[in-house]
Amino acid sequence: QNILKTSLIGNDVRYYSELESTNSTAREIAPSASEGTVVLAETQKNGRGRMGTEWQSVPGGLWLSLILKPSIPLENLSKVTLVAGIAVANTLRNMGVDAHIKWPNDVLVKGKKICGILTEVSAEIGKVDYVVLGIGINVNVKLPDLKDDIRRDSTSIANEIGKPIDRTSFLASLLYELEQQYIRFKTRQFAEIVDEWINLSDTIGRNVKVTTPIKLIEGKAVGITEKGALVVLDKNNKKHEIIAGNCRYSD
Ligand code: BTN
Repeated sequence: QNILKTSLIGNDVRYYSELESTNSTAREIAPSASEGTVVLAETQKNGRGRMGTEWQSVPGGLWLSLILKPSIPLENLSKVTLVAGIAVANTLRNMGVDAHIKWPNDVLVKGKKICGILTEVSAEIGKVDYVVLGIGINVNVKLPDLKDDIRRDSTSIANEIGKPIDRTSFLASLLYELEQQYIRFKTRQFAEIVDEWINLSDTIGRNVKVTTPIKLIEGKAVGITEKGALVVLDKNNKKHEIIAGNCRYSD
């Protein structure tokens, strides 16, 4: 039975009971796969998080990667990431879970992580070939199954609403939201997306410590640029535009 309400995303769904990482498999098949292909696994043996971290992928979660082929310059990649965060947060809010986005794209409920997004790209001469959008959502994950240090800062949908949910209909809603947001990304002004992201985010206005591959920036998060970068004002009122990094709240 096809319960998908989408016309692009999820036209081709590759389902596996176990993979090393859905992102790795998606990257392998991406050159020949059509846009919107979804790679899904019940568990991952080597789930990958941002900045080289491990992503614990136990049964009950939704571990998936989406192959997109937008014709955008590489510098616009972080916009796609923001769009994905909006789609996940909206899907959760539609079911009554009070989700917020922490820059760049962690989705949190009451300050605890419920979803992580890992965007990987293949690009030539600055133009995107394909994007693999890896999304990990702790849908029916049982928190005791998580390692101590991960469990402390994590939650799951089942934990928030008090019972497990139907993962297939959740997936259908998520793919629908992703498609709506992706269409909007391709057809509308990015400023519209920035506005929605700011409404869904709990990062703007907070004091943050952002680690980038080259430095640590401390200050107040004040906005998002047209390119999708986070704007941080440091104590000397110097403005930093950060395109990629890891953010911690310091208040
Ligand atoms: C993070 O918050 O660090 C990002 C986590 C991303 C996890 C997902 S699960 C599906 C996909 N496959 C992976 O190996 N990682 C992403």
